[in-house]
Parts: sequence; structure tokens; C-alpha cells
Amino acid sequence: MPFRWTPELSALDITPEEWFRQRRRLMKGAAMAGAGAMLGLTPLAAMSGESSEDTQTPFEKATSYNNFYELGSNKENPAANASKLVISPWNVVIDGAVARPEKLSLEELLKSHPVEERVYRLRCVEGWSMVIPWLGFPLAELLKRFEPLGSAKYVAFETIHDPQRLPGQARNVLEWPYREGLRLDEAMHPLTLIATGMYGRPLPNQNGAPLRLLVPWKYGFKSIKSIVRITLAEQQPVTSWNLLAPEEYGFYANVNPQVPHPRWDQGSERRIGEFLRRTTLMFNGYEKQVAGLYTGMNLSKYY
Ligand code: MTE
Repeated sequence: MPFRWTPELSALDITPEEWFRQRRRLMKGAAMAGAGAMLGLTPLAAMSGESSEDTQTPFEKATSYNNFYELGSNKENPAANASKLVISPWNVVIDGAVARPEKLSLEELLKSHPVEERVYRLRCVEGWSMVIPWLGFPLAELLKRFEPLGSAKYVAFETIHDPQRLPGQARNVLEWPYREGLRLDEAMHPLTLIATGMYGRPLPNQNGAPLRLLVPWKYGFKSIKSIVRITLAEQQPVTSWNLLAPEEYGFYANVNPQVPHPRWDQGSERRIGEFLRRTTLMFNGYEKQVAGLYTGMNLSKYY
């Protein structure tokens, strides 16, 4: 790694999971022996924010306990309805306050952005969390290509809108399409990733194929799945959950154990696959890397 893949790769070309797991064990072993730097592994490990307490969530769990309301509102619906999301052909529009707006095909995008692997913790506002080895590339690399204008202050994202096929979009659980947004500096942060795969394979549909956002220091709902549009904006964009229940879901949605939620405990969380709850860390444990983005802000007001 880094390596590239294209949709033409067959299943045989894809990293077998066991190989991938072994590699992770090797990396951990090497880091413990202090040999990480020699192997060139240190920057990757540092970027992933992986701590020695992090055990990866089993693939089966991460792909069968999902939130993807377009594919249904229960945790098991997205896996059961995964085939209803058609990802070929797929295009992404990048527009708004950019010098070079464009419609990119998925193939083009994958060709020009080699992926690397990053292990991220993802915490849902409902109080559960997972640790997942993702494959992706920094969103900053994609945005730079289209030359954001000086007036761009935010980035808005949109998921595919296809009510004929996507069962969840036939109902008004949320205002469709699913929308999310970031401040431009959050979007340009090196931890912010566009994921195209997980566990050494292309993203399963229920996890947001073919492209999803990952912002590991924010609650899971910011990590919008199956993206078709990215718009650079001057004003703070509208976001789906904030629109539905503004007192529960803010625009920032930083993981913050000090800001309570009316229905779920934000002070602790249950790792999927584990029994005991563990303490939720400020910014989901990525405080060192991201706290500087919010210097001087009242995070109880801007939750
Ligand atoms: N993206 C879209 N388009 N639709 C959704 O319903 N759910 C969000 C987020 N991205 C959602 C979405 C929520 S609430 C969470 S917690 C994460 O996806 C869950 O990601 P996972 O199923 O891969 O764990």
C-alpha cells in the first residue's frame, strides 16, 4: 500500500481478508518492537489514530449492523436491501464556489486517487462504536483539484436520490436526498477521508458504496454514504439530521462527552462485539489532531 484499484479488478485481485488481518498484526507487532519507523509504518499508524486498545470490529458485524436510511430504518435493513442500490454507472458532480466545476465518473476518480488504508474509530450518536480498517484518500486532494474560490467557506455533500429503487426514500423518514456538510477547514483536514473500501475490499453497498465520507472525530451521521454531489458553498449548508431535529443534532456534531443528548448517553459507548461500555473520548480520541480547529468556540453552543 498505497495501491490502486479499479472496478475492473476481479474478486481474485482483492486483498483476502485474512492476509489483511495478518498484515495488521504484523504492523502492530512491528510498532511494539520499535521497528515501525524502519518499515515506514509510523506515519500511517499515527494518522489512523489507532490505540493499543483498539480491536478491529469483525467484518461481519460492520456490514450487518448499519445506519443507511435509504435502505431502511432498522439496523439489519441496509444489508438485506443492499442490492437495491445500483452503483454502476456512478458520477460525482463537484460544483459551487470552485474555479473548475466538473462531473467525474467513478472510474476517473478512482484512477486519479490511489487509496491508502486507515483504521478509524467511528462513534454513532446512538452510543455504539466500531473500529474499521478503511481504504480511501484525503478529501483535500479531491477538493484541491477543482480549485475552491476564496469565497468558499463550507462543503456540502449529497447522497443519491432514487426513490424508485431505494425503499427508504419512498417514505418521509428524512427529507431526501440525505445531506451533510463541513466547514472548509474541517473538509481539508488530513484525517477527513473519502472512503472507497474497507477490510481490503471495495465498500459493500450497505456501508456507502461507492464513495462515502469519513470524519472520525464527529458522530457517525456526518459520514455521508453513496455521495453524488460535492458543492463548495459560501453559507453553512443544510444537513438532514439538523433539519429533522435541530435540538438533537447540530451542524458540528463533534463527539463530545460533555454535551448531553436528550435520548442517548454521550459519556460512554458500546463497541460492537464487546460487552462492557467504555468511556467516550473528546473528539472520539482525535483531540490532539483536531482540537485546534475549534479554538475559542463554545462547543456547547456549536454542538
Ligand atoms: N448516509 C446516508 N446517505 N444515509 C444514512 O442514513 N446514516 C449515517 C451515516 N451515513 C446514513 C449515512 C449514520 S446515522 C451513521 S451512524 C453512519 O452512516 C453509519 O455507518 P455504518 O453503517 O457504515 O456503520
